[in-house]
This record gives sequence, C-alpha cells and structure tokens, in this order.
Amino acid sequence: MARVALITGGAQGLGAAAAAKLLGEGFSGVLLVDRNADGLAATASRLARPGQVATLAADLRDDATPARAVAACLAKFGRLDVLFNAAGNTARSGIADATLGTYQGLFDVNVKAPLFLMQEAAKVMKAQGGGTIINVSSMIAYGGLPNLGVYSGSKAALIALTKHAAQEFAWDGIRSFAIALGWALTEGERAVQAATGQPPDWAEKFGAELPGGRHILPEDVADLVAYLVSPSAQMMNGAVIDFEQMPVGMFRQHPALKSSA
Ligand SMILES: NC(=O)c1ccc[n+]([C@@H]2O[C@H](COP(=O)([O-])OP(=O)(O)OC[C@H]3O[C@@H](n4cnc5c(N)ncnc54)[C@H](O)[C@@H]3O)[C@@H](O)[C@H]2O)c1
Repeated sequence: MARVALITGGAQGLGAAAAAKLLGEGFSGVLLVDRNADGLAATASRLARPGQVATLAADLRDDATPARAVAACLAKFGRLDVLFNAAGNTARSGIADATLGTYQGLFDVNVKAPLFLMQEAAKVMKAQGGGTIINVSSMIAYGGLPNLGVYSGSKAALIALTKHAAQEFAWDGIRSFAIALGWALTEGERAVQAATGQPPDWAEKFGAELPGGRHILPEDVADLVAYLVSPSAQMMNGAVIDFEQMPVGMFRQHPALKSSA
C-alpha cells in the first residue's frame, strides 16, 4: 500500500528534504504545509512529481490550521500515514528578556500546532490501523544557549508530548518519535546567522571544527525519517533521538590535559 505524508515546514530545509526522500522511497503523496507560499511552489516544482505533491500555504499559529491541513491531505490523497512536524519558531530570547509575544509565538508553533496536528492525524491513523508521528525537537530542549531559553522550554514540551503520544496511541498502531536535533545547516539557520552578522563563510569555518567536519544537513535528517517510518523500525516507539555530534555534557578536552590512562 503506497503511503502518504503530511509535512510541516515543507517549503525548505528539513521538510523539503524529507519530502524528496519519502517520495524516493515509494510514498505516493506528500502534503507540504508552510506559511511561505513562494517556497512551497518552488519546492513542489523542484520535486517534479505531478499529482504526488500537494501544498497548503497556512500559518501554524492559527488555531484552524491543524484540522485544515489534515482535511486537505485527505481530500487530495485519501489517507495519512506519516506526520512529520518539521516547522519551528527559533526566535531568540532568554528568561530575562522574554515577552508574552515571543513566548506566544514560540509555543504556538513549537507546541500548540504539533499537539493539534497529532490530535487530527491520530483520528485518521487510528481508523487506518496505524501510522508514524515524528516531531522535530532540539538538543536545546536539554538546556544550552543563553538566548534560547523560551525556545528550550517549547522544545522540551514537544518531547514530553511526543512521549505521551507514544503511550496514548501505542495500541492504535501509531508510533511517535522526537528528533532532538543539533546544529543543522538549513535555510532557516543560514538566515538566522546572516541576521546576526556572521560572515558568509561561517558554515564552512564552524563546520570544519565539528567532530564530523561539517554540520548536520537536512538530507541526514531525511534519512532518519525514512528509517523511522520503515518496517525496520516497527518495534520502536517513543524514542527521543539525539541527532547531534556533541552529546549533552560533552566538552572538547584541551590537548594539554590528555590522560595517559
Ligand atoms: N537548524 C538548526 O540548527 C536546528 C537545530 C535544532 C532544531 N531545529 C529545528 O528544526 C526545524 C527546522 O527549522 P530551521 O530553522 O532549521 O528551518 P528550515 O529551513 O528547516 O525551515 C523551517 C520552515 O518552517 C516554516 N515555518 C516557520 N514558522 C511557521 C509558521 N508559523 N507557519 C507555517 N510555517 C512555518 C518556515 O517558513 C520554513 O519553511 C525546527 O523545528 C527547528 O526548531 C533546527
């Protein structure tokens, strides 16, 4: 049975890469949801799969978007097997400078939208006998950068909701996962770094210093998504995958401190 995926943040980055991967793996349809209508059109044309790619330009902050998105997927493809919540708000704010506006924006996109998309998708998946939900969280959910405090709270909430979904829907055949993503080279990240005044070659410079010699790419994440929705992962449910080269608590040892043991 050919499968169908609903992907948020599908205009670029993680969402667009996952769409390309899943279509390559035999998915019969993908619905890309994003607020960037031009990006959606460009991605759909790049994927070049007439009849297999549908788009919905919508803002995930709107209460109505989750039900609209799932309804659009059913109207176009008649089923829904995979929900990939890749869209995210990465607004910078610590606790000291947090505002209600920043808080609302972060929690609306990173928590409210995935929660109600899971609710809507689960209704369909239950009726179909199963499905897979994958939420993109962040290594920052465990703490980290000083200017990502509110973001950290939103991504930690998303991990908790994912764990809960894994338990709540386990006997419905629906498996749920969170990807705690590390530093990834997406269009979104390039825009953030450009806005903070980094030089054009920041990605090459910083990437070369990472353990793997480069940043994580959207295609790396797409490979994980393809695995999680494959028969090989059918016995996994509720995992939070730390997709990062520098695990929590890892420090670079100073060469002078090398142990002889
Ligand atoms: N890039 C990183 O280093 C990194 C690290 C950890 C986690 N993440 C997470 O990865 C995901 C991808 O983010 P990214 O910043 O790398 O960007 P990205 O380039 O993958 O694009 C994110 C997409 O989400 C869409 N989007 C954002 N807000 C929206 C809204 N309100 N309604 C509809 N669409 C919306 C954007 O238009 C964009 O197309 C996010 O969930 C982010 O929190 C990224």
